[in-house]
Amino acid sequence: MSERTITAVDRYLRDGGPLSVADGAGVIGELERRMADVLGVGPVLTFSSGTAALHAGYLALDLPPGSTVIGPVNTFHASLSPALHAGLNVVLVDVDPETGTLCPQALAEAISEDTACVTVSHHLGHPAEMDEIVAICRERRLRLVEDCSHAYLSTYKGRPVGSFGDLAVWSMQARKRLCAGEGGLFAARDRALYERAVLAGHYRGRSYQLRDASLRAFADTGLGLKYRLHPLGAVIALAESEDLAARVARRDDVLQHFSDRLSRIAGIRPPIVREHVTVGGWFSYRPRLVPGEVGPDVTAGQYLAALQSAGVPAHCPSVGSLDQMALFSRPAPLRVVEGSWRPRLHGPFDGDRAFDQDKINVTIRDDDDLGVIDGYVQEFAAVSRRLGTQDAR
Ligand SMILES: Cc1ncc(COP(=O)(O)O)c(C=O)c1O
Repeated sequence: MSERTITAVDRYLRDGGPLSVADGAGVIGELERRMADVLGVGPVLTFSSGTAALHAGYLALDLPPGSTVIGPVNTFHASLSPALHAGLNVVLVDVDPETGTLCPQALAEAISEDTACVTVSHHLGHPAEMDEIVAICRERRLRLVEDCSHAYLSTYKGRPVGSFGDLAVWSMQARKRLCAGEGGLFAARDRALYERAVLAGHYRGRSYQLRDASLRAFADTGLGLKYRLHPLGAVIALAESEDLAARVARRDDVLQHFSDRLSRIAGIRPPIVREHVTVGGWFSYRPRLVPGEVGPDVTAGQYLAALQSAGVPAHCPSVGSLDQMALFSRPAPLRVVEGSWRPRLHGPFDGDRAFDQDKINVTIRDDDDLGVIDGYVQEFAAVSRRLGTQDAR
């Protein structure tokens, strides 16, 4: 945390700022207005987590029970798992092998009569192909959810992610570019959708302000869930948001430099970034190893171990794709959801496997400068040289 954030939390507590806010006043409303402005999206509503925001979002869509949400096989589970808790079904489809985002063709092929919604995740910060996906959703009259948790300030053809779908969500969990510790942001331009999302996660205070009288009738309880953001999370996120744009721009510069230098090294492919997008805050930086190009017998494991022993903070991405997770591939563990909970795998997932093949994750901190990056570049070059030479012997 920056000194500015530590000071802001200290001041808030010393001033006796409220530790529970039901009506969206004070720091909560301030953060919501700031983020609507910074992200370039419709009114923003805060939640206790990205997962909670997605749950409220799927409830607020008010889709026919049992209808289907199609989403990418390689996102974080919570892009889609809250749909299961909203009485919807989930169908997982393949992703683009270059960007890891929902493959429009796989989406089109998976649509059936019960499909009601599509969820994209702008995976690792790279925007999904929104022109094609929006066109499919329009033509087939499907709702569109954007999970922007990895993609703070990413743009597609100059337009901010989060502005394409019916609703959009950002996680503010500690590892995200904007951190509240735990927290989520929800945005929807459609007032009716926004109001139903309020009811789904916020009772009293805030729900008394609903315009729709039929929803306001439930204001004392909402839908019975409480998903409010902790005010201290809002204080942290507000302070952190002040330099969000500068941090994102700097990180992008540093990583473009890294990619440019890595592309000159044998056996390394920097992440692919399509020309018409920006990757915003780069949730994770993952070049690909092509060990055979270093030397015919060099393995990815060997290369990674060599990088690690040279002090480069590199590791294998640890989480597999959703089709390999029990939540999406085994019968539900609780009887209460047995009847309704039937996620479907609409493979093959060749694009996903190709995207993940021999990726390494290099941990880049927001304050890593070009000097740090050039140090890593030298180590990559040295490892490629050394393993290549050993291999040739
Ligand atoms: C793409 C994506 N969506 C949703 C979430 C869920 O957010 P949270 O952890 O705030 O519930 C995450 C969190 O890691 C995520 O990476």
